[in-house]
Amino acid sequence: MTKTLRYIKPYGGTVALGLILKFFGSVAELFLPLLLKWIIDGVAANEALNSDQKLRWTLIFGGLMLVCAAVALLGNIFANRLTVKSSGRMTHDLRYDLFKKTCYLNSAQVDGFGVPSLISRLTSDSYYVNQMVARTLRLGVRAPILILGGLILAFTQDAVLACVLLACVPLVGVTVFFITRKSIPVFFEVQRKQDEMVRRTQENVTGVRVIKALAKGEYEVGKFEDVTGDLAATEFRANRMMSLSNPLATLILNLGLVVLIAVGAACHSSSGTVLEFLQFFTIILNAMIALTKIFVVISRGSASASRIESVLDMDTAETIQNCPAGDSRYKIEFRDVSFSYNGVENNLNNVNFAICGGQTLGIIGATGSGKSTIINLLMHFYDVNSGQIFVDGRDVRNYPAAELRTKFGAAFQNDFLMAATVRENVDYGRNLSDEQINRAIDCAQAREFIDGLDGGLEFDLAQKANNLSGGQKQRLLIARALAASPEIIILDDSSSALDYATDAALRKALAREYASSAKVIVAQRISSVKHADLILVLDDGNVIGAGTHEQLLETCGEYKLIYTTQMGAGGEEY
Ligand SMILES: Nc1ncnc2c1ncn2[C@@H]1O[C@H](COP(=O)(O)OP(=O)(O)O)[C@@H](O)[C@H]1O
Ligand SMILES: [Mg+2]
Repeated sequence: MTKTLRYIKPYGGTVALGLILKFFGSVAELFLPLLLKWIIDGVAANEALNSDQKLRWTLIFGGLMLVCAAVALLGNIFANRLTVKSSGRMTHDLRYDLFKKTCYLNSAQVDGFGVPSLISRLTSDSYYVNQMVARTLRLGVRAPILILGGLILAFTQDAVLACVLLACVPLVGVTVFFITRKSIPVFFEVQRKQDEMVRRTQENVTGVRVIKALAKGEYEVGKFEDVTGDLAATEFRANRMMSLSNPLATLILNLGLVVLIAVGAACHSSSGTVLEFLQFFTIILNAMIALTKIFVVISRGSASASRIESVLDMDTAETIQNCPAGDSRYKIEFRDVSFSYNGVENNLNNVNFAICGGQTLGIIGATGSGKSTIINLLMHFYDVNSGQIFVDGRDVRNYPAAELRTKFGAAFQNDFLMAATVRENVDYGRNLSDEQINRAIDCAQAREFIDGLDGGLEFDLAQKANNLSGGQKQRLLIARALAASPEIIILDDSSSALDYATDAALRKALAREYASSAKVIVAQRISSVKHADLILVLDDGNVIGAGTHEQLLETCGEYKLIYTTQMGAGGEEY
């Protein structure tokens, strides 16, 4: 937790000022019972004073009480404002760093946490840390001052009655402590279930089209209800337990008051003293209850802080290795590459291939056969388990990430477009020239539809480009991949929503305009990869065929099967 708490340091001045104000406010509050007693015992019941004097002194003491109450109130209000300010800024800084760290996590680290869990760390966990800091600053000074100061003042007033008070304090403390301690694990459970709910929500929001298409709405709503219902039940359990503490504390308070009055009567204490102690009682026990609330927010906040810190502690520093060099004649070479995401079963087995600059590699295979995994490894999003991958004869592990990635222009499967203009989406912050952008748009066969948009390049895309069709989105993504004229162009299932004619025009333009770039084209359709210099046929992580279209028709039964099923009756691809 120390790492999280360090974020409060820059706001130390504001925090200190707030605490000082809190201190004076709390001390002023403690004077109220004393003044009350002086009015009752020292003025009202004082037979040496005449009625005029009594009125005057009552007004003086009453005025003092007003001043104390005002100091307590204003001190509290201003201190709380400062607290909210400093805890808010601290949370902002923490979230900023957490988000930045999240951006630099490598793919394996992201897989380790899971995206929903990263989201809840950025949202609810940082909120709990904020609550912890804010509440602790608000009550952490005030409550102990009120309890300690109240007890000390009580002892200076009447030792016997103060003992009654002293006896009640631990009683309330212990009761509330045990209730709180029991409810803390339940609060942790609440946090875990929140993760689960975020996961479900995210799945549903991103998969809303599929859910609709498959008419799975009701099914998903049902499952979501299970998760939220579960969360609500757990929250209810936690809060029910916590809500026991207030009535129990009040019960002890009231019992204490009865004892106090009885002891006061037995010891012939003055009515002013009894009233004064009633006030001490209320102040101290309320402070006790407040303290236990801090206990809850601290335990919840510290759990959140450690979840946040486990992300912040991730090592995102680049390690540039010194692996043996490969054959520099090749642009891309895979040498006996095996890989597993979970370390249990291999997602790729002994993959070997090589292509030169200007050549095209086609990858074809069923969903889940490992096509995108090859791309992930080539771009060094993950480390291979065995074997080596070379780009320009240099192992990808030997490259600084930025240097390696500038070689690539990639359009991934399910890639995203920003809610920005068409130009901004193609440029993607790289300050490309108009010429580069226009060339990429032409090649990606996106010219016609962009010209038809209101404002052309300046047309604003909606969130996730929902105001474009699937094929239009794909063409924009391809344009983005091409725009910087990369050495290696990667199109992962990018032509699936394009019609055959557009797909063919794209292929021709790629060969013409980006002749020197190596191209990796992942596709489900034979026609998209047919003209490649090398085609890999993948099945369950294994390369079951490699060669040109003609060679594969001869040597690879599966390839031939796909080809014949994708051919129309007249030998034309449909
Ligand atoms: N991040 C990941 N974590 C664990 N398994 C993954 C991950 N990404 C893909 N896989 C698994 O690896 C296999 C190959 O996936 P992928 O390369 O995406 O297939 P595709 O050929 O459809 O592109 C699949 O079984 C998939 O479930
Ligand atoms: Mg894929």
